[in-house]
Formats: sequence, C-alpha cells, structure tokens
Amino acid sequence: MSIRRLPPELINRIAAGEVVERPASALKELVENSLDAGANQVTVRLYAGGLERIEVSDDGCGMAPEEMRLALERHATSKLPGDAIDRVTSFGFRGEALPSIASVSRLTLESRVRGADGWRIEVDHGEAAGEGPAALPPGTRIRIEGLFDKVPARRKFLRSPRAEYAACLDAVKRLAMARSDVGFTLDHDGRRILTLQPTEPPARVAELLTHELDRHGIGIDCTRDGLRLTGVISLPTFNRGVADQQYLFVNSRPVKDRLLVGALRAAYRDLIARDRHPIAALFVDVPLEEVDVNVHPAKTEVRFRDPAAVRGLIVGGLRHALNEESGRSAAREQAAAPVMWTSSADLPYRLREGTAEQSEAGVGLMYAHPLAPSREREGVNDVAEAQRLFTEAPAARAEPAVEPVPTYPLGVARGQVAATYIVAEAEDGLVIVDQHAAHERLVLERMRAAREGGAVARQALLIPEVVELDEPECDRLEGAADELAGMGLDLERFGPTAMLVRSVPAALGRTDVAALLADLAAEIAELGGPLSLRDKLDHVAATIACHGSVRAGRILSVAEMNALLREMEVTPRSGQCNHGRPTWVKLGHGEIEKLFGRK
Ligand SMILES: Nc1ncnc2c1ncn2[C@@H]1O[C@H](COP(=O)(O)OP(=O)(O)OP(=O)(O)O)[C@@H](O)[C@H]1O
Ligand SMILES: [Mg+2]
Repeated sequence: MSIRRLPPELINRIAAGEVVERPASALKELVENSLDAGANQVTVRLYAGGLERIEVSDDGCGMAPEEMRLALERHATSKLPGDAIDRVTSFGFRGEALPSIASVSRLTLESRVRGADGWRIEVDHGEAAGEGPAALPPGTRIRIEGLFDKVPARRKFLRSPRAEYAACLDAVKRLAMARSDVGFTLDHDGRRILTLQPTEPPARVAELLTHELDRHGIGIDCTRDGLRLTGVISLPTFNRGVADQQYLFVNSRPVKDRLLVGALRAAYRDLIARDRHPIAALFVDVPLEEVDVNVHPAKTEVRFRDPAAVRGLIVGGLRHALNEESGRSAAREQAAAPVMWTSSADLPYRLREGTAEQSEAGVGLMYAHPLAPSREREGVNDVAEAQRLFTEAPAARAEPAVEPVPTYPLGVARGQVAATYIVAEAEDGLVIVDQHAAHERLVLERMRAAREGGAVARQALLIPEVVELDEPECDRLEGAADELAGMGLDLERFGPTAMLVRSVPAALGRTDVAALLADLAAEIAELGGPLSLRDKLDHVAATIACHGSVRAGRILSVAEMNALLREMEVTPRSGQCNHGRPTWVKLGHGEIEKLFGRK
C-alpha cells in the first residue's frame, strides 16, 4: 500500500464536505466573514433557496487584490495574528471557508478597500477562471453559483429550494440575533424578506422571534460565577411541536450545542410535555479561556472547561424565572380571543323550539349555590323549566351577589360546567379552571415539595393490598422499590406475579392502587433509558399525581372548588398541567364587554 499526499483541490473538496454541506452553511460562512470584516450592513440575496445563487455584500474593510488571492488559499486567514487559538473573538479563524466553497461552486469575489480601486477574482470549482477590475462601493461582494452542481454525491442530499431557503433564513436570523448592532437585508428570488436596522439585542430578538413573546415570554438576565445568561424564553404553555425556535449563543457565536439544548430542556422538565418545545433566545457569556470553539468543523458546537457550571447557570436561572412566572398562563390572552367563546345568544330561542336535546342545554350548567342542589344533580329535565330558567330576567351571577367578591386572583367558585370545569368570578373577570389538569399539578407539586423537604407523608393501608401483575412488571416495580418508598409508596414482592402495597403517598388520597401500579410499571419500563434518577422520579411522581387527582366528570362541592382555587394560588407552576397545557383561563371584564359590543 503506497501512501500519497492528496492534491490541494481534493483536500479542499474534502474540507468542503465538512464546512459546507448545503447552501445555508455556505451562506453562514459568508455572512460571518462580512461580520468579521467590520461590516455595518450585510445584504444577502438568494435564488432558489441558494441552490442557484447566493450573494452576500458588505461595507466592511474589503481586501486588496493580493489579499483576495490569499483568501482563496487554504489555511490563509487574517484572524489569528498570534497563535492564540484559545482566545478567538472572530467567527472565523481557520482560513477554510472560502477555498472550500470555491472548490464546489463557481465563486466570484469582488472587493474594494476604501480609497483604492475594486478587483474581481473568479474561481470555477477550484480552478482560477479570470480576474480584473471591478466597480463596487468599498467592501466585499461574493457570489456563489451552482453549489455542488459537479458533486453529485452532495447534490443528492440537497433538499427542495423551499427547504434550503428555510435553512438559509434560519442561518441569517441566528447571525442577526448575534449581532444586533449590524443592519441586515435578505431577499429571496427578488422578494424582500428581512429588513433589520441596527438596534439593541432585546429589540432584535423581539423582531426575529414571534411577536407573541411580548405577552408569552419571560426576560432572562442572571449572573453566576463570572458567567452571564441573558435573553428570553417562552412560558411553558406557549410551546411548539418542533424545536425550531431555539436560538443559543455563546459569546455572541450562534451554536447548536447539545449541552445547552439539554439544559434548556431540563429547565422545562415536567412543565411541558415530552414532545413539545419551548421558544428561546439565550445568550451565554463566559470568559474566553472557559470555552473552546475549535471543536466542530462548522463551529456550531463548543466545549466548556466547566460544563456543569454552564448547565447549572441555565437550568437554575431558567427554573427560577419560570417559578416566578408560574401563575401566568399563556392561555389567558388566547382565551380572550372572541373566537374561542361561543356566543350563547341564541340559546333561549332554541329552547323555545322545544326539542328533546335542547333540554340537555340545562344539564351542563350546574350551579354552585348550595341552595340549588337538586337542580345541580339532576339537571333540568323539562323544557318548560329550562325555558323559565333562561327567559327569566337574568341574574348577574349564578350565586346571589350578596357579598362583594373577595380579591382572590382566581376568584370565587360560582359553578361547575360539564362536571369538568370550574367557573369562578374574580375581581377582574371570569375564570375557568380545568379541574383535572389543575389538581394533577397540585398533587405533583405537593409530592415534590414533600420529597425535597425530606418528609413524604404516607398513608398506611389498613389492610395491605395485593396487586396481581405480570412477572416483568413486578420485577420492575421491585427494582424501583427504594425510590418509590422515597415517594411514600411502600411495596414489596408477593410471589412471582403479585406485589403487596403497604402504604401510598398521603398526597394521593383515595386511589385505585392496582391501576396505579400498572401505570408505574409501564412508566418505569419506558424510562429505562439514560435519564437521571431525579428525572425518573419526576416522571414517576407525575404518573402518581395523575392517579391522585380529581377526574374530569366528578362533581365538586363549592367548598372543594374554592379549596382547589386557593391552593392553586399558592402553588408554584400551577399555571400549567404536567403536560404543559394551561390549567386555567381568564376572560377580563374588558373582554366580556367587547364580546357584547359594549366597548
Ligand atoms: N467579506 C470579507 N471582507 C473582508 N475580508 C474577508 C471577507 N471574507 C473573507 N475575508 C478574508 O479572507 C480570509 C479567508 O476567509 P475564510 O472564511 O476562508 O477564512 P476565515 O474566516 O479566516 O476562517 P474560517 O475558515 O474559520 O471561516 C479571512 O481571514 C479574511 O481575511
Ligand atoms: Mg470565514
């Protein structure tokens, strides 16, 4: 076997495979170069998602003709004056991007240093293809055409122009967030997509993320041990099905680092369902010597000297902010949209028609007032009675308005709808609570508080209960017995296919122990993966909580409803259920007035 040195074109092409895998990554390299050149304005033009053509112009420092030739050579960079690769502040530092891109496309580089004439160099798939004078304002303009046209192996992996365009837009957004002091424009197929004036970071982030974050976002700013975290995250209830709106930066460099993504995820643990994702723009600033940016070909991952400190800062900082905001629920404003509320204006009319189902209309409405118990239970069975109910002069409230409404944030229970939702009157509006979602959350928080306080109240069963299960299920439960005991669930093996339960967490109240054990066994099987013990316990606690909570469909007494509301007010993170859905919504007086055209 003979060893040979590879020719430079081949080396460049191999590097291109790592540095530029699609139009968006070539575009990212070009914009980074413009930013490194001190540009105040970066102009991007794309055609067919960058597959046909990518053009980037800037008003940066420009290059003289001999610098342009060097720039296209491998490992030629102006960005490492010494050997201090551990202290780079520029986006680039390897001198790899331009020669790599030039080896897999037709590239035209035009540049002009202020006070000198402009020059143009063309390269066709790594071969010089001519040069000469060029007319352009001071700065640099680069055009890439036919990217990967002659590299079928790569071309195969490219997606549709739409998908490539989406990736390009994302790349520009990330860099625009990283450098809010620079103006950007982006055109696609001749259409203007973005115009961004130089501004401050929060304003830039707000411009590029959904405007909904004005109402559903939480601002972050915290410092710990010389590390700083700033930015904005969404309330847990304002989440997405894909993690496409998470922008992470380390020392102003956009990254897609696994450590940071994992920390973000961990901060939302149990506030959001496993398949939902928060929106976030987070900026981590660490001393230069704390981070190595030279670990990934496209520079999108970094290595921290002290990863635990960074993770701690993110999880701790976000968790704290989320706790402080826990009472807020994203659905509050959503629910205020009139479309979410069906108008009941035609209800009395339909009742007057007198058909069978219409009497049902009364059944769903249950009055909380203790003096109306019979109607509450039985519903309104006859049409005449329903008519009287709906055509009588309306009373202001289901419950007589004898006393002023005390100032509880979630108000006073006025009734229950569909045996599932509690309707309450607050000083500033109408509140609807999903009783199961809310109670599930409360049970989980109670269990967690108890666990963290080290004293889990357990309720011993007078007669220990024997639960029959499969052998593997028993094995799993037996294996987790210590952890479960830590949560107040004491069980032991009782033969090959049964478990004996001696106590249950007191937070649960009365519960179907057999169903709980079956669910736990399934949960433990599912969690078999690489989750931390703490994560597992939280999932298990959530499963237990689900069993302990009042179901939809259970009729609650007024006292029960009010007790639930009061506990929600003092429980952290009670604004959303364990799956990230809101537990309550509020319709403000102003919004009610709007619905009735009074405003
Ligand atoms: N838009 C630009 N304006 C001014 N100079 C530029 C511009 N683009 C590239 N250059 C010069 O060309 C050099 C090579 O650029 P290239 O992107 O290939 O490497 P780099 O930015 O130094 O490192 P990296 O490969 O990590 O991006 C840069 O160091 C810079 O001096
Ligand atoms: Mg570069």
